[in-house]
Amino acid sequence: MKTFLFAAFFLGLGACAQQAPAPLQGEALVTRGDYLVNGIGGCNDCHTPMTPQGPDMSHALQGATLIVAPTIEIPWAPVAPAIAGGPAGYTNEQFVAFLQTGARPNGSHPRPPMPAFRFNEEDARAVAAYIETLPRETP
Ligand code: HEC
Repeated sequence: MKTFLFAAFFLGLGACAQQAPAPLQGEALVTRGDYLVNGIGGCNDCHTPMTPQGPDMSHALQGATLIVAPTIEIPWAPVAPAIAGGPAGYTNEQFVAFLQTGARPNGSHPRPPMPAFRFNEEDARAVAAYIETLPRETP
């Protein structure tokens, strides 16, 4: 019985010690953003010039004309703007909010095929942090 109580006590302590992991910061946040942008988000499929071999990563997220278009008339943006360094006119906070809601700072929404992303706050921060590290080419 004594042993059982001891074990129960320590198991209880263990459960209390389990806390949410600390929020990612700095380099770790940027590394997660790199993974989300280049491995999951597909941002390069539209925002990076396309070649027969895939997105031209020497101009990553510098903006591109899309290689696909709808065959019927629907709202559609044929060009994806440059977002390397952060989208023009957005603060970091506004970019993070955009990635969580799909709404621009003025409340309007970009046209299709830009997806309305619903990243959680940490992932939105990671995507913004990573994209803001990318140098913007002068047009
Ligand atoms: C399927 C194509 C596609 C994908 C994938 C895509 N975008 Fe876009 N994005 C667009 C297009 C097209 C526009 C321009 C929309 C317009 O002009 O109305 C746009 C616009 C934007 C804008 C500008 C919004 C504004 O204020 O006009 C931001 C920021 C953006 N995209 C970020 C991203 C990020 C970050 C990712 C990846 C996580 C991503 N996009 C993935 C096509 C895409």
